[in-house]
Amino acid sequence: MAEIREVALPNTSDVYRPSDAIVEHSNVMAYARSRGFSSYEELYQWTLDNNEQFWADMASELEWFQPWEKVLDDSNKPFFKWFVGAKTNIVHNAIDRHAASWRKNKLAMVWEGEDGTQRTFSYHALNREVSKMANVLKSVGVKKGDIVTIYLPRIPELPMMMLACAKIGAAHSVVYGGFSEAALADRLAHSQSTVLVTADGGFMRGKIVELKKIADEAMARTPSVQTCLVVKRTGHTINMEIGRDLWLHELMGLPIAAADCPTEVMDAEDPLFILYTSGTTGKPKGVVHTHGGYMVGIYATLKMVFDIKEEDRYWCAADPGWITGHSYIVYAPLITGATSFMYEGAPNYPFPDRWWSLVSKHSISILYTAPTAIRGLMRFGEAWPSRHDLSSLRLLGSVGEPINPEAWKWFYSVIGKDRCPIMDTWWQTETGHFMITPTPVVPLKPGSATRPFLGIEADVVHEDGTPCGPNEDGLLVIKRPWPGMMRTILNDPQRYVDTYWTRLPGMYAAGDSARKDEDGYIWVIGRLDDVIKVSGYRLGTAEVESALVSHPAVAEAAAIGLPHEVKGNSIHAFVILRAGFEGSPKLEEELRAHVGHELGPIARPDAITFVSVLPKTRSGKIMRRVLKARAQGLPEGDISTLEE
Ligand code: WT7
Repeated sequence: MAEIREVALPNTSDVYRPSDAIVEHSNVMAYARSRGFSSYEELYQWTLDNNEQFWADMASELEWFQPWEKVLDDSNKPFFKWFVGAKTNIVHNAIDRHAASWRKNKLAMVWEGEDGTQRTFSYHALNREVSKMANVLKSVGVKKGDIVTIYLPRIPELPMMMLACAKIGAAHSVVYGGFSEAALADRLAHSQSTVLVTADGGFMRGKIVELKKIADEAMARTPSVQTCLVVKRTGHTINMEIGRDLWLHELMGLPIAAADCPTEVMDAEDPLFILYTSGTTGKPKGVVHTHGGYMVGIYATLKMVFDIKEEDRYWCAADPGWITGHSYIVYAPLITGATSFMYEGAPNYPFPDRWWSLVSKHSISILYTAPTAIRGLMRFGEAWPSRHDLSSLRLLGSVGEPINPEAWKWFYSVIGKDRCPIMDTWWQTETGHFMITPTPVVPLKPGSATRPFLGIEADVVHEDGTPCGPNEDGLLVIKRPWPGMMRTILNDPQRYVDTYWTRLPGMYAAGDSARKDEDGYIWVIGRLDDVIKVSGYRLGTAEVESALVSHPAVAEAAAIGLPHEVKGNSIHAFVILRAGFEGSPKLEEELRAHVGHELGPIARPDAITFVSVLPKTRSGKIMRRVLKARAQGLPEGDISTLEE
């Protein structure tokens, strides 16, 4: 791990207070009052003192096939269990109970394609489509406990396929549609999936992304895949391998795809999905989430933080392929009975006002996005958003990396017209749901994710675990378990213990540095490990480096993240070439393209520098922090461990 850096402190006295109307009508104040409190502070303290009661309150708002015997089982730390003994299925709460209520004809999902095509699904229709897909999955042999890999563009079939898996008790492993074949192949091989769901292609900026072609290459490397279900999106010609590849729409038209399918009874602790995420070393790790605790955590946080009301039209502009999409496009909005909007394409396609036109066209009331998108759209100026009626907006949200106060203020005033509080939510693939976040009653400070959510105990500590003083840099930790926490790393429980729970005994180490100001507000600074957030996407330096060394010209490589105006960070790589190769702009371009091909366009380095040596410790570890300091012309810090 790198050491904690000194960075300039944003202005911590800049405070934005939510209006009385927002506070008065918020879900969180309603809950506080139901518990006899008149302030959020009192409520928060109560949720710590009565932690299990708080989470049980949240869980009781959902339906269970069988109630729990125990809220939390911490007898085998850090392998915590939640709602022990309970039976449920997240799909029962996300779809079935709404389809059986007055909500059945309420819109569950509204989708707009990049070309303007629209598709809408009521809870009834969603139930029908998901049930049919679940029956199709069964017909190709998918059983409870299997892992199905899903590699789809941002189309309604993506959430539906996730829900179909969950409905029959299979775990899904969604691979983001922007990843390339090596990334897909690694994940397929690691999860040993026998079924892959993909599409003929997807649309991005008017061009076809050849998903099936990438899937074909990945499947050639992973013999475990026996069946590939293909969604028709683009209609262009693709290779269909007889005996392996099947068109989904053809199967959906057969009697096997009956419109009713029982929802499997799951143990609260049964796995719901695997999601691979980048870590410090080696291959991405498969983070495991469950049906019970995860369901309660995402439900409680969405309801309280984004203050979901029956009439809301909520838009989380992430991709369902990342945790943000899993939790807050697919599962939580449906569990709350909301209407979730999804858009297929790029924010500035065909013009920089596409998003703002969508807000007014669909009357979006809550918009949840990432700092990189805000900065990207901010560049085009105020004229684009000002052409559109954005008065439907009530709340805004940000996630993925720290938001710089300039972007925060632009979002707040130009998009939110100074009346929509911004929920800056800090969380991780591993945490499952929001951990540090305001609710609509919390005064906001631009750039701070504010305070721990109800029932969450977060702190900033020194290397020895003792709390830091106000405004002192330290490690961000979570001091008690929470229901949506990851349960383990697939096939590697030891790595789960070592990565998160060993550094500071009894605490979850998030891998971020942060500071807490005099008001108890937490300011996340950034990753401490070898993880780079590029446009909010999480990439490991190890992944980029191994993609580089898989090229015949490369002997050794080191990747670092450098500050970037729009992307937050951009990747710069340092490469030692093999004998017989010489650095040139042409080779640089070839290597950049190679990484893009191996991992996906988001991982393509912005620049590659050819070097003859890399700074290393005596034990041979590359000192990326030294490269980073040199690249920025900053002091190199403690280099006592540097090899001579
Ligand atoms: C890392 C987790 C879970 C949402 C998407 C990212 C950074 C996330 C914030 C925020 C400052 C943030 C952290 C964290 N991060 N949200 N609001 N403010 N930093 O999930 O890909 O697992 O990445 O994203 O560094 O550790 P992820």
